[in-house]
Amino acid sequence: MAVHMIEGVSIPESFDLPVMPTKEDLKKDEELFDRALECLKKHDAFLIAHYYTSETMQRLAEASGGFIGDSLEMAREGRDSDKQTLAVAGVRFMGETAKILSPQKKVVMPSLKAECSLDLCCSADDLARVKEQYPNATVVAYANTSAAVKAQADWIVTSSLAVELADYLKGRNEEILWLPDRHLGSYIANNAKTAIHCWPGRCIVHDAFESNALSFVKKDNPDALILVHPEAPQSVVAMADFVGSTSQILNYAKASDATKLIIATERNIFYKIKQACPDKILIEAPVASLSGHCISCANCPWMALNSLESLIDALENSAGHELFVPEDIRVQATKPLERMLNFSKALKEGRLDNNL
Ligand code: 13P
Ligand code: SF4
Repeated sequence: MAVHMIEGVSIPESFDLPVMPTKEDLKKDEELFDRALECLKKHDAFLIAHYYTSETMQRLAEASGGFIGDSLEMAREGRDSDKQTLAVAGVRFMGETAKILSPQKKVVMPSLKAECSLDLCCSADDLARVKEQYPNATVVAYANTSAAVKAQADWIVTSSLAVELADYLKGRNEEILWLPDRHLGSYIANNAKTAIHCWPGRCIVHDAFESNALSFVKKDNPDALILVHPEAPQSVVAMADFVGSTSQILNYAKASDATKLIIATERNIFYKIKQACPDKILIEAPVASLSGHCISCANCPWMALNSLESLIDALENSAGHELFVPEDIRVQATKPLERMLNFSKALKEGRLDNNL
């Protein structure tokens, strides 16, 4: 289906990536486990972690009665929790989403520097300009964007809903301006069979999965199924037996009869997949490298900023860790976010009508 790439927007050629934690850093984090657990209790905080955070952080979420999930579920859990303090271990847009949906709650993050390359590919100023070029288009923004971008959108979606929403909008004959992930944009257009105007952003982690190398892994493991996140390039998506969000990949892995799975998404998700499928053989899909060095090695460097040490600091001393969203932006961004949550509910309940 026709994917028209938008031109003239500023996409960084490279990103200033945080340094990955060393083995010693990870060991130190492990030693802080009990203290972090006590600290969550002391502050009566609800820990909401993404699957891409470290195994130690995910175990802490489990041990503390917190939550681990994909970005849609994180938004929903944060909104529905009774706790007045939310500790969001993920990247900045996830913390912002929690704050937008629960302005009365205190939202802290281990690091406010936990960016996302997709978010960095899409400035609010560029969007305002592009919207003028497509005055009739419905703006559908991926959740991986800043609050200021969300405030200008008609809809927000996560990868778990993107095709369904595009299909729904196609049924209403709406022209779609999609942002900011080019690969997810192509995936949506192909699967909902609709034309879109597409922002040319990318996730540095998923963009690095490589189809040639993957075909060699598949040749060595012909009985394995390939599971792919839709932020990966089209050539990789085309080889997939299943494409879905992080939670959808986990659920598919659990339900599948296959004993061998090749998985193309951030490698920290292996913690939950291994836990759910102890008897399956799990293989990491290969990533491209520059002169023998991979850029992300399937590890999101911003997610890796979520150390337990920083989490303790965020809980004990919220300065520099608490999230605030300007009220005018928050009010504007609430509409498309709530629309997304309503859409997700209606979809699940099989009662999509034309008035969402
Ligand atoms: P999910 O919505 O699948 O959790 O994805 C979020 C993300 O950042 C993927 O890179
Ligand atoms: Fe953003 Fe990619 Fe990291 Fe997800 S994995 S948070 S999309 S940079």
